[in-house]
Amino acid sequence: MPSSLDTYLKEMKTVVDQALDQRMAFQAPPSLKSSMEYSLKAGGKRLRPILMIATAEALGGKREDCLAIACALEMIHTYSLIHDDLPAMDDDDYRRGQPTNHKVYGESMAILAGDALLTYAFQMISSSRSYLSADNVVLLIEELAKAAGPSGMVGGQVMDMEAEEVSVPLDQLENIHKNKTGALLSFAVKAGAIVANATEEVQDRLAAFSAHIGLAFQIKDDILDVEGDTALIGKPIGSDMTNAKSTFPSLLTIQGAKDRLNFERTEAMKLLAQLPLNHNEQLTALTQYIVERNY
Ligand code: IPE
Ligand code: IPE
Ligand code: MG
Ligand code: MG
Ligand code: MG
Repeated sequence: MPSSLDTYLKEMKTVVDQALDQRMAFQAPPSLKSSMEYSLKAGGKRLRPILMIATAEALGGKREDCLAIACALEMIHTYSLIHDDLPAMDDDDYRRGQPTNHKVYGESMAILAGDALLTYAFQMISSSRSYLSADNVVLLIEELAKAAGPSGMVGGQVMDMEAEEVSVPLDQLENIHKNKTGALLSFAVKAGAIVANATEEVQDRLAAFSAHIGLAFQIKDDILDVEGDTALIGKPIGSDMTNAKSTFPSLLTIQGAKDRLNFERTEAMKLLAQLPLNHNEQLTALTQYIVERNY
């Protein structure tokens, strides 16, 4: 990783972590709050919030205007991980370098902590109406609900479960990845564009770009599940194999998955280069990072 990208990611992670901390001052049973904070603070790359802020800033938008939405997005992502790790789903014991939420707090609390993070995320976006336009707040709520819900992440998780133990065609696997992972990453880019008041044309072109990085992100996740380093990725490798998941390496071989990952990067880079942005260094670096990361 080039040192400039490393520095940028560290700085931005601090910005996001602070913003998350500031938003955890609500009343709730201490056990619930503790379970929510455990997973939120366990670590995590904060890629989705960073992508949102990088997109907004590349379009001339303000970082402060992004923070509530970026935190909401990270809370929804974190809830999806808590539930994804449950015994009824991927049954994983290790996440973000620590025991999974249900291992520490039990399954009922893990389910409820996920529910609370999901619900609180929408409360936070609603309260950003003191500085974002009412139209933008409603649009952001609609887009996040679409990305996280039955036609997005949750739908993708269902398709992922239904593709266990069976062989699915490649276009079906692409659709699973597009929904379970791509939808929230695409929302990150879209939300940045909405906050920066980008034109519809620019939003459409950004959507084409984000579709490639969203797919690339999950292909890389599948590859890391085969040949990653558990200590670095903070979660067990081999989980997909144990659960007989349909993944890019299982369908295309590890080399086939890497070739497809490179193709997605090339397409994303082409689209990015043609976008009318004030500057594109951060989005270019984040695209490279998605493909080359080892955690
Ligand atoms: C993991 O996401 C789950 C997927 C959608 C592949 P990340 O790799 O972004 O996880 P954290 O947030 O850094 O822990
Ligand atoms: C999970 O995909 C995607 C979501 C949590 C929505 P994975 O099951 O591959 O994610 P990891 O590998 O456990 O992080
Ligand atoms: Mg899963
Ligand atoms: Mg999983
Ligand atoms: Mg995975």
